[in-house]
Amino acid sequence: MESTRDKKRAAAVLAAGGLVAVPTETVYGLAADATNESAVQRVFEVKGRPAGHPLIVHVCGLSMLSSCVADVPEDARRLAEAFWPGPLTLVLRRSALVPDVVTGGLSTVGVRQPDHVLTLEVIRLLGRPIAAPSANRFGRVSPTSALDVEESLTGDVDLVLDGGPCRIGIESTIVDLTGTTPALLRPGAVSPDEIGEVLGKTPHVDSGPPRAPGMLAAHYAPTARVLAVEREEAGDAVGSLVGGDTRVAVMCETDVDALEADIRLDAGSDETTYAGRLYSLLREADRCGVDVVVAVLPRPRGLGGAVRDRLQRASSTP
Ligand code: TXA
Ligand code: MG
Repeated sequence: MESTRDKKRAAAVLAAGGLVAVPTETVYGLAADATNESAVQRVFEVKGRPAGHPLIVHVCGLSMLSSCVADVPEDARRLAEAFWPGPLTLVLRRSALVPDVVTGGLSTVGVRQPDHVLTLEVIRLLGRPIAAPSANRFGRVSPTSALDVEESLTGDVDLVLDGGPCRIGIESTIVDLTGTTPALLRPGAVSPDEIGEVLGKTPHVDSGPPRAPGMLAAHYAPTARVLAVEREEAGDAVGSLVGGDTRVAVMCETDVDALEADIRLDAGSDETTYAGRLYSLLREADRCGVDVVVAVLPRPRGLGGAVRDRLQRASSTP
């Protein structure tokens, strides 16, 4: 698997039906030409992702958005203008340009314009949208560097476009605009309050049966067992685990008192840093052969809400 910064080559590989891992501001994506059914089919095979789990379509510009969707409602136009390029995915009614394989047969499609110069240029050169899930095996930790991609998907990708480490480090916010009121399907860097300020109404948290695999339990998980705890519970949780054969890591912010775990994974001193380091710390835990990661949850402000969401899902793994 080869790593490059050559945008033209990446666009050529995609145009020929190949797969390219691409950088975004959130996490790396595993991209195919969204209009090429067999290329998109291969994305599912490489990821080990069950069919029927829709991919996000990445566009460059509002006219490319229009080509992917049946119509652009006023709310979508406002959110795109306010937050694109950026970490916000809009679920809208799809157009005929988007094949069934991308949306898992749904009549809706998730679309976003990522905030990364290399990838935006690749989409522009290709002249078509790209479909890309996070570039990890299904259910595992998302990659936030080119090296992470190479470790996760050894050999199965035609090219890795190396755009450096991801700025945000956690997947985009997903908001569904196809219902009577906007629904938050996945928390991310764009908060419900920020969306509310633009729309004049705050999206409700979707509490129905899971419509997105990112909403399932046992997602975003490393090989080590994750135990998500509040700050006050951390001491007891670590205390009850250390000793014996279990190798215990504690992942927490810098100001959390030294806990007697075997390994300390430093999540930094604020929620934004925690988000940026989250996935690389979980990968590090696996590299160190840790059995349990006691993940001390950040406060629910800023990116803390999205970090809590991912850790609570990772910790549902049996
Ligand atoms: O930040 C991100 O969103 C990253 C980067 C690569 O853009 N992508 C990402 O893709 O996280 P993935 O496949 O790991 O997660 C996509 C999520 C899934 O939870 C999927 O179910 C949801 O988006 N999704 C996609 N289309 C949808 C639709 N039509 N309706 C509901 N959910 C949808
Ligand atoms: Mg994913």
